[in-house]
Parts: sequence; C-alpha cells; structure tokens
Amino acid sequence: MSNDRPSSDLTVPAATGAVSARGDVPERFENPGLPPHQPRRADSEPAADKRAERQVVALFGVSILGTIGVIVTYFVYPHDPSIESMRTANMLLGIGLFLGMFGIGAAAVHWAKTLMSDHEQAEARHPQRSDAEVRAGALQALSDGAQDSGIGRRGLLKGAVVSAVALAPLSIAVPLIGQLGGDWDVSKFRHTMWRSGTRLARDPSGTPIRAADVTIGSVYHVIPEDLRESDHWIEEKAKAIVLLVRLDPQDLVESDERRDWSHEGIVAYSKVCTHVGCPVALYEQQTHHLLCPCHQSTFDMADGAKVVFGPASRALPQLPITVDDAGYLVAQSDFHEPVGPSYWERLK
Ligand code: FES
Repeated sequence: MSNDRPSSDLTVPAATGAVSARGDVPERFENPGLPPHQPRRADSEPAADKRAERQVVALFGVSILGTIGVIVTYFVYPHDPSIESMRTANMLLGIGLFLGMFGIGAAAVHWAKTLMSDHEQAEARHPQRSDAEVRAGALQALSDGAQDSGIGRRGLLKGAVVSAVALAPLSIAVPLIGQLGGDWDVSKFRHTMWRSGTRLARDPSGTPIRAADVTIGSVYHVIPEDLRESDHWIEEKAKAIVLLVRLDPQDLVESDERRDWSHEGIVAYSKVCTHVGCPVALYEQQTHHLLCPCHQSTFDMADGAKVVFGPASRALPQLPITVDDAGYLVAQSDFHEPVGPSYWERLK
C-alpha cells in the first residue's frame, strides 16, 4: 500500500498555496494519493476464490481442447483434395488454433484479475542500474509474486497451466513435422497440364473457347479443358491457370521466336505472378497492362507480358496457342519455362 507515501516521491509537487496570475486557479495541487485498496470477493470469500480458480482452469481446458482439435483435424483431413474437405479442414484448424491461443490468453487475464495480488504498487524513478539491494528486492518480489499467485498450493491450476502451455506449440509443430516426409520433388513445378492440342476452356465452367468468340479487348480466365480428369486437379489448376486477351494485332510487339505463339491478336499468359505467385487478374484495356493486386507488379500484355512496374523480376510465361480444325483455341505445347515465382533449382 502506498497511498501514505511521502510527497517527495510524487510527480506532482505538493501544494504551496501559490495562486496563479488569474488569482483563482492554484498553480500546484495536493497529490491526492492512491484511493484505498478495495479487496475483491475472491480475497475474502473462499467460495469465490475457488470459483475463480475453476474458471481459470476451465479456460486453460478450452485451450487444451483447441490444441487437441487442431491435431485431430490435421490427421482426419490429411490429403483429401475436394474443396468441401479443404474448407471444413481449414475452418476446424482455424477454430482449434483460435481456441488454443484464446484459452491461454483469457485464462492468464482472468487469473491475474481474480486470483493474483491486486495491491497497488508505486515505484519511484531511479537510475537505470539498480544497486544490489534493489535487485535482491526485485528477486524477492518475484518470489513473493509466485507465492502470491498460489501456483504452489493450487495443484489443479498448476497442472492446467503447464498442460495448456506445453500443448499449445503442438498445433504448429505437428503440421510442420508432418511435412517433413512430404513430396519435395521440385521438378513438378516445371510442367503443367498443357499439351499440344489441349483446348483452352473457361474457368470454372470448362467450356472450350472458340477464337471467333473472343472480341478485341475481352479477357478470359482459362483452364485446360481436361483439367477435371486429373486426380490432383486443384494443384494442376494452380499451375496451369492462364489469362487470355485479344488485342488489335497492330498493338502486339512479338519477338521472332514467338511470332506464331498468338492467334490473330489473341495471347495467353500464365496468371501466376512471377513475384510470389498471386493471381494477376486486373486487366486495363486501354493500356494493355495487367496488374497483380498483391504488390502492384504490372505486366504489359502487348509486349510479351514484360514487367513495367513493381517487384516482379520476370515476364509472365506465355502459352503458345493456335486453333484446331473446329475453330477452338488450343495449346501448341506446355509453357516453355516454369510458371510462377523463382525457386531453388530453377533453371530460368
Ligand atoms: S505476388 Fe504479384 S506483385 Fe507480388
């Protein structure tokens, strides 16, 4: 208790009786000190103390259940590629992580507010380095605090806090450890589902696209027509997704090597940003610029999808296209370089 401490410790000097030039407002005020300490119910009623302890234990229990939920979810939904399964797994993982972290935080706050000492403390300013006596006092205060928290004599509470804090990191560690035996074959990044003759289809309907239907200035989000035939179509879609636009052929700047990669002004480029892989999808018709919403890399669709602004360092890979006998747009081949951001063992 410090509401009776000497006035020399206070930040507001004691009243001197001086009066301001206005004559009505004192220049200095009497330090009112701290209000009297109000004991809480848990301080004086054993039943309230016990109830608060049970509440803290329950909150740690919530954290424990959340962490167990994350681990169970991780193993129940390991590699199911369906959207519904991934959505459910993500939701359950999120709820589990939230409960795991929230339980510990809420329990700590409730513990501090109801069971730990709430006596007001005042500390005078002093040189940063404490002398030996003060440091010994600090150690003693820590020791007293630990004793005051009741951790020593509340066995159930001690078990709950230790269990919750020890288990919480598992919700991160278990999925990480689970990845150690994963598939690290980076050669899969080099190829997509596009093959010679694969029709370009609308995403997500999968309807093939006729070249005659693509008007100048229009934009299509494109997938391989046979995408759904793959067992891992979500992963394949992430690599093969393409953005297709039709420009006035006179606006196109094409190198000799790529002159036959387009069809009457229709060009197709990977939609995976070469910076860190976001989907580039904001096309500005007048400038032919394609913007990545993540970090504003901008690519010129009229000039080989070269970078004109932003952190991306490479142009978007181009998909060589042509038309088949029925007039549908088809790929001539896979991309000629890996799509997406740079990674280790990448040649280009
Ligand atoms: S991911 Fe496209 S700019 Fe960063």
